[in-house]
Amino acid sequence: MSWQPAVKAAELTEANTAVPARVDGTGLLITRDESGTVRAFENQCPHQAATVCRESQVGETTVECPNHYWVFGLDGTFMGSRIALAAGRTPPPDPERNLREFPCRVTDATVEVDLTPDR
Ligand code: FES
Repeated sequence: MSWQPAVKAAELTEANTAVPARVDGTGLLITRDESGTVRAFENQCPHQAATVCRESQVGETTVECPNHYWVFGLDGTFMGSRIALAAGRTPPPDPERNLREFPCRVTDATVEVDLTPDR
């Protein structure tokens, strides 16, 4: 494990928060869900590699890719496109469409990530 600081823990004190970050040249998305679980993902859409989250958001339970509106839960799970979801259609689970997750941990002041498995 090679832990590197990603964001200040103070940026993720509220539930349902998503914060973009960059560590060692890799775009990341750090989230805190309703239960307080903090996770780190590659901030790159599995569809056509767009940046999913470009600015911090608070109070939303999902993040949406701006290119073709794919929607992801704060646990990285692909939920469907905004258009399909609005029409009441939910796709079957497809792990290939989920955001790629990295190990992360919260210290007193920092959320740290380990990008080693991706190298
Ligand atoms: S690149 Fe994200 S939905 Fe197409």
